[in-house]
Amino acid sequence: MAENPAYPVGLRLTGRKVVVLGGGQVAQRRLPALIAAGADILLVSPEATPSVEAMADAGEITWHKRPYAEGDLADAWYALIASGDTEANTRASAEAERHRVWCVRSDDADAATAWTPATGHSEGVTVAVLTTEARGRDPRHTAAIRDAVVEGLRDGTLVAPHHRTRTPGVALVGGGPGDPDLITVRGRRLLAEADVVIADRLGPRDLLAELPPHVEVIDAAKIPYGRFMAQEAINNALIEHAKQGKSVVRLKGGDPYVFGRGMEELNALAEAGIPCTVVPGISSSISVPGAAGIPVTHRGVAHEFTVVSGHVAPDDERSLVDWASLAKLTGTLVILMGVDKIGKIAETLVAHGKPADTPVALVQEGTTAAQRRVDATLATVGETVRAQQVKPPAVIVIGAVVGVGPQTSA
Ligand SMILES: C[S@@+](CC[C@H](N)C(=O)[O-])C[C@H]1O[C@@H](n2cnc3c(N)ncnc32)[C@H](O)[C@@H]1O
Repeated sequence: MAENPAYPVGLRLTGRKVVVLGGGQVAQRRLPALIAAGADILLVSPEATPSVEAMADAGEITWHKRPYAEGDLADAWYALIASGDTEANTRASAEAERHRVWCVRSDDADAATAWTPATGHSEGVTVAVLTTEARGRDPRHTAAIRDAVVEGLRDGTLVAPHHRTRTPGVALVGGGPGDPDLITVRGRRLLAEADVVIADRLGPRDLLAELPPHVEVIDAAKIPYGRFMAQEAINNALIEHAKQGKSVVRLKGGDPYVFGRGMEELNALAEAGIPCTVVPGISSSISVPGAAGIPVTHRGVAHEFTVVSGHVAPDDERSLVDWASLAKLTGTLVILMGVDKIGKIAETLVAHGKPADTPVALVQEGTTAAQRRVDATLATVGETVRAQQVKPPAVIVIGAVVGVGPQTSA
């Protein structure tokens, strides 16, 4: 006869006693969700892993450092039995049965009165996947189904429209350096839900091709700006679309607040009374060097890194950068938007005392299929950029970290 399927339910455990027997790997995996559920957790175990111990130290659980004793489960609502002592597990689950406490057993699913589903979360929803019956339980399969659902909801490949009214507004989304896999999960989800996307030239352009046909994709560089500045025209476009009740994503390269004018856009939206959320992104200043095998810090080599814009030359009166001070730093200098001015920048750094043989690497179109790394020194970089025709976008790294990886040219 076929086994009856398990009945799925969500336990509301706030302030309710939950007993966990055993402080090993199973407890370590399950405790965070029980803590998040607000349960009043009693751990009974002579030992615990360092992570479980840290939860006790932090006051998130109460730990009785001893083996199971009859009566431990008397006033519990739920029990997780996961000690290495099968005999104690059996006695504890018998006690749970007597007291009608739902009880999960890590060592014997058949003897358990409850099973833990594979769970994941997406935007206010918990996805829980249970095997239908004890026989043929395949935890990896249930976990894979959970992953497929949660991943699909997160990246928008599984579309579950909201039926409550969506809040219109703008999300300033940091798209990362270019590789479509390097956007955040939240950024990707908001992109999948957008009605309008206003995108920069930099960032994960490939993601735009995946958007459904009804989504209006606007190239920020092509917004006509007539009597406005380009940035003002972009701000206006964001405001206008949001005022029409649309969900607007402003997709930016890297992080919105690293030379990204994120705050200008946020302020303009705030002034217009448009709700705005900002999603951080992986900045090219760290990730692009990393993609080319250059860590921006390295133990014993660089204890600091400084990210600088090189869009105006050092002798330009608009420059806010103190190149003389930067020349004195011993750490890593990362220059964005500096390809055109790198010759002048290198001369200035050397003139202020930075050794001319300081290594320099230029990483063009990092994290994309076109990524290219060109190495030089402060003495040679101006000429190298011309000779090798290095073009923006590129991140320039100056300092000893350039030489610490296994690869120095590509
Ligand atoms: C206007 S700034 C924007 C930076 C961005 N907000 C960030 O956090 O990465 C543009 C500069 O970032 C750098 N950049 C951005 N993406 C890049 C990439 N994939 N490869 C190389 N450089 C990149 C270049 O220096 C480019 O000129």
